[in-house]
Amino acid sequence: MPMTHAPERTVRWHRYWDKKSRTYDKEMTAWEQRLFGDSRAWACSQAQGDVLEVAVGTGLNVPHYSDDVALTGIDLSERMLDIARARADELGREINLRQANAHHLPFDDAAFDTVVCTLGLCAIPDLDAAVAEMVRVLRPGGRLILVDHIEGGSRIVRGAQRLVELITVQLGGEHFLRRPLHKVRAHGLLVERVQRFKLGLVERLVAGKPE
Ligand SMILES: C[S@@+](CC[C@H](N)C(=O)[O-])C[C@H]1O[C@@H](n2cnc3c(N)ncnc32)[C@H](O)[C@@H]1O
Repeated sequence: MPMTHAPERTVRWHRYWDKKSRTYDKEMTAWEQRLFGDSRAWACSQAQGDVLEVAVGTGLNVPHYSDDVALTGIDLSERMLDIARARADELGREINLRQANAHHLPFDDAAFDTVVCTLGLCAIPDLDAAVAEMVRVLRPGGRLILVDHIEGGSRIVRGAQRLVELITVQLGGEHFLRRPLHKVRAHGLLVERVQRFKLGLVERLVAGKPE
């Protein structure tokens, strides 16, 4: 049963990401160096055909896609999308960018060959609804590619994450104790590749939708 989120909370998180857009790229540079490494290139280099990026943010992945993919990106925050649009223009890439909620993707069933989501499932309030929607819009034989920070591998790390979540979930809907891998399997995808690193804090995976 999908969780429901009161409209006022969605508005609050929407505002949070609009505000965060001003500093997001700078903060991410530091996190990429410390934690995520080459994950953007890893994810995007495996995307093919009609590609949907969910929670595209400021478009930091855009430079990593091959020129022959047809890219569509959605995000809740218009301010994040403004930056993504400017980046796409600068790179001379044509991208269909639109404001939408990952809980209800405005696309037909089986519309995409690849769905990519990097560092989005930690922030999208309803993990189950978001994964269900990603699976719905994937064509049979298509691939879901995810990168995110997840629950740590040790009890001490998870304890610290639990404390951090007390603030971040209220403030911006940011979660630290999720494991999208389980949802991906629960929604019937076949996991083809999984890599977990940095004390188990980062997980990236490729999963296929059965034909
Ligand atoms: C941590 S940022 C990640 C941005 C980008 N994917 C990246 O790799 O840099 C999380 C993004 O999720 C977006 N977001 C949060 N809730 C969402 C929702 N319900 N639907 C769509 N996007 C959402 C935020 O606006 C923000 O851009």
